[in-house]
Formats: sequence, C-alpha cells, structure tokens
Amino acid sequence: MKYHVLTLFPEMIESTVSTSITGRALKSGKISLHTVNIRDFSDNKHMRVDDYPYGGGAGMVMQAEPVYRAYESVRRDSLAASRGKKPRCIYLTPQGQVFRQTMVEELAMEEELIFLCGHYEGIDERVLEEVVTDYVSIGDYVLTGGELAASVMIDAISRFVPGVLNNEESSQFESMQDNLLEYPHYTRPEEWRGKKVPSVLLAGDHRKIEAWRLEQSVIRTRERRPDLLSKSRKVTAAYFSPTEGTKKAAEMLMSCLTQNPVYLDLTRRKFRKQKHMFGEQELLVAAAPVYGGQLPRVEGGIFSSLRGNGTPCILMAAYGNRHYDDTLAQMKELLSKQGFVCIGAIAPVIPHIYAPKLGAGRPGEKDLEVFRKFAVAIKKKLEQAEENGLLEAEMPGNPFPEPKTMKPVGKAFDAEACTGCKVCVQKCPVNAISMETLEIDQEKCLNCMRCVRVCPEQARTFDASSVCAYLEDNYSQPREVEYFI
Ligand SMILES: Cc1cc2nc3c(=O)[nH]c(=O)nc-3n(C[C@H](O)[C@H](O)[C@H](O)COP(=O)(O)O)c2cc1C
Ligand code: SF4
Ligand code: SF4
Repeated sequence: MKYHVLTLFPEMIESTVSTSITGRALKSGKISLHTVNIRDFSDNKHMRVDDYPYGGGAGMVMQAEPVYRAYESVRRDSLAASRGKKPRCIYLTPQGQVFRQTMVEELAMEEELIFLCGHYEGIDERVLEEVVTDYVSIGDYVLTGGELAASVMIDAISRFVPGVLNNEESSQFESMQDNLLEYPHYTRPEEWRGKKVPSVLLAGDHRKIEAWRLEQSVIRTRERRPDLLSKSRKVTAAYFSPTEGTKKAAEMLMSCLTQNPVYLDLTRRKFRKQKHMFGEQELLVAAAPVYGGQLPRVEGGIFSSLRGNGTPCILMAAYGNRHYDDTLAQMKELLSKQGFVCIGAIAPVIPHIYAPKLGAGRPGEKDLEVFRKFAVAIKKKLEQAEENGLLEAEMPGNPFPEPKTMKPVGKAFDAEACTGCKVCVQKCPVNAISMETLEIDQEKCLNCMRCVRVCPEQARTFDASSVCAYLEDNYSQPREVEYFI
C-alpha cells in the first residue's frame, strides 16, 4: 500500500506513521509513506498558501493552485494514472462520510491512496471539486487540521494490509468486524488484588472459551454500544458439498464476512430433514456445487428445509471451471420463495471432481482478494439497507432449467478390499447405497463421488477419463471468480 499525504506539516504525519506497527510496516516495505509539502508549490515569495475568504468572515482559506500542483505532482506518477484512471484522493473534513470499519476494509484493498489535509478555514472549493474522490470525517468534532485524521486512517487501514500484522488473523479477530465489541482480556497473575481471572479461561477447553468470549462480546456491546448490537448479524453458511470443494470456498467467504461463522452441512441427510429458521437480523450464505449447469437434483431439494423471514442471503455456486450456467438464477428463485432476499451471489471456481486439473488449488490467494471485495460490497449493502431496505441482486441464467440427464460415470467396487464398514452407506448424500448389498442404485446416484473419497480402503473407484479429456480439451483456461451485487 502506498500512501501519499498532501500537507502543510509533513513531520506530523511522519512522526506518527513511522512509530510502532506502522513504523515496522514501513521498514519492511508493506506500506510506504510519501509526504508532499503543499508550501513547496507556492508562488509566493514568503511561501504563503492561504488568503482571505471572498465574502468576508473569519479565518484564512488555502488557495487552489498550490494544492492542485501538489496533487498533480503525485497524480502524474500514480499507478492509477498509468492505467488511465483517477487516483483515490481523500479529503479529511467533518463534512465527510464517517469513517467506519467497512470503509477501512474497502480502502485497504486499494494499492495507493492520496490524503489531502486542510488547515485554517479549509481549502478553496474549486480545487476540491477537481481532485477529491472521497470526503471523510473521523468523527463529529473539529480538529485544527487534517493530519491527525489522516494518521488515524492510515493506522486503521494498514492493519488490514496483508503482512502488516504479524499474524494476519489478528486483524480479523478483533473488535468491530461483526459489529460486536471485543471480549475482556486477562494476563498473569491469575489473581490480582483479590480479582481472579474467569475460571473458564484457565480450564483449557477451547470450545467453551470461544463460547464465553462470544457471550462476553454480546454483553459488552449491549451495555456499551447498543447501537452496534442492532447492526450485528449471525452469519450461517448452509452448504451441500459431497467432496468438500464447495465447503472450502464457503469457508473462505465466511472468513471475510464474520469472526463467528456458523455452519450447516446440508450434505448430511439428517440436516436436510430438519427445519431451519432464520430471522431478519441474520445473514445466510447458501452454497452448492454446479452439476450440469444447475443445482444437483437431490430428492426433496438441497435448501428446502431453510425458512427465512425477510432474511438477507448470499448465493454461492461453486463450479469446476466449465460454467455455472443457470445455477445462481435457480437458487435465487428457490430461496426467494422461502423467505430470503438474495442480496448477492458469487461463482467461485473449485477443483472439478472429474478433471482435477481444472480448478486445481482453487480458491487460492487471488480468489481470496475477490472474495474480500465481494464481502465488503455485501457489508456496505447491508449498511445501506438500514435506510433503503434490502435490494435484490440480479444474476444471469434461467431460474427454471430443464432437468439434465448426465452420462453416468464408470464406478468400480473391489469386494475383496471392502471391509464392510458401511462408511460409504452412511455418507452417501442421497442414500443410494444399499446397506445389505453395498450396491449403488443408479437411479438415485448423483455421481458425486463422495463414496469414493470417504472409503478408507479405496474399495471404490471411478473412471471419468473420457469426460476428463473432453473437459481438459475445452475448459482448461482458468476462469475468474464472478460476483453479482
Ligand atoms: C455430476 C457432476 C456434474 C458437474 N457439472 C459441472 C458443470 O456443469 N460445470 C462445472 O463447471 N463443473 C461441474 N462439475 C464439477 C463440480 O461443480 C465441482 O467441481 C465438484 O465436483 C463438486 O463440488 P464439491 O467438492 O463441493 O462436491 C460437476 C460435477 C459433477 C459430480
Ligand atoms: S453412491 Fe452416488 S450419490 Fe452416493 S456417494 Fe456414491 S457417487 Fe455419490
Ligand atoms: S466405505 Fe469402503 S470399505 Fe467401507 S463399506 Fe464402503 S466400500 Fe466397503
């Protein structure tokens, strides 16, 4: 991340940013700081950059030309200019949009930011119109200049720049991301002036510790920031994923959306039979793999046990680099009828079970960046929904695709290797394997290959060589993750 700061007091910015964690990030090159003294661009022999306001009144106003020249000195060589774009230029002002966590995450995805710090009564409006892309306030109070506000923003944004914090996760596991305040922290000694550390933290049961921390976060937010609690949402990912490619993609998306993910594995028959209710104040991520350009034809439906109540929902159709065709449109149609508002959709590439070279290693680091952008856009949309209500996303495809008959893939069973453990019977998502004979009912079978994956003896195998050759010949070019908001 490159920061450029246009200021009358470069030393104010340099001294704060070069200290502590941002200082370490500067040394390691994870961030860079370039301060530009606006005074250096003054024509005035006394290097003045301010003048009296037209129309009278108290205070001085910074002139347009020195500000513009200072800006141009940065813009000319910016990454954005080399791509024919305008760089993101932030003017710090109490009149701006209030700086919040969603904005932090969004700005952290930029490669370069320009901060413009005003002084005196402000800056001539004409140059602001020319250069500024974002007006930002760090709170409802007035400072003597924009430098401290720029330092606050640089500090908050840098924490989200990969590699700035020692453990990347630590930026995610802290206050605010779920609109919840952090739980209390304790360190040695175990007892201090008669006050003991809560016993749950000493027992070493990590599940109980996680549950306690979440409970404390909620209690604390209710007491100290009830306004935030009303914005906080439980986020659940309900997924169908026989060979766990979709599951992995759903987990990656969840890590961008929440610190407290809840999972519902609809690959398991018993969970598809139970009813699951979701409230208005929750968020559902519904994830499924693409089979023949549509949802896998699972008897009773994959998502039919889910009921929303105007609940916002994100759709995920994970596919093996051929295409997702009608899957998202089909999911939207189904879930909308069940009380969900589909506010976004994403189609990540995952390894193709029949042609593992397609989508190998995905979703990877590059995909994660797209997931992050998508998650920030979703969070913004949810924030805006407080004023405008939830808006549905549009996505391509036919919501009512004709069922497709797919060629069955050759499956083999080695009776000698089989120990009769029945793991495959239990784990088949559609109960297609006979408990008695271990034979597969081809009518029911989805050809998902879960039984092949889970057999501990490798007694089940499949031969998809002809499908694999066709897919590799036609669909090897890696596709980008697409999303719809
Ligand atoms: C029967 C079947 C049909 C598939 N059809 C498609 C398809 O039309 N387009 C595509 O890109 N991938 C297709 N795939 C690949 C899957 O979407 C995905 O890569 C993986 O096999 C299933 O995900 P999972 O690991 O979550 O079970 C198909 C896979 C199977 C088993
Ligand atoms: S029998 Fe068919 S549906 Fe069941 S796990 Fe095996 S491939 Fe999947
Ligand atoms: S999982 Fe494998 S070993 Fe166990 S019953 Fe099925 S085929 Fe046999």
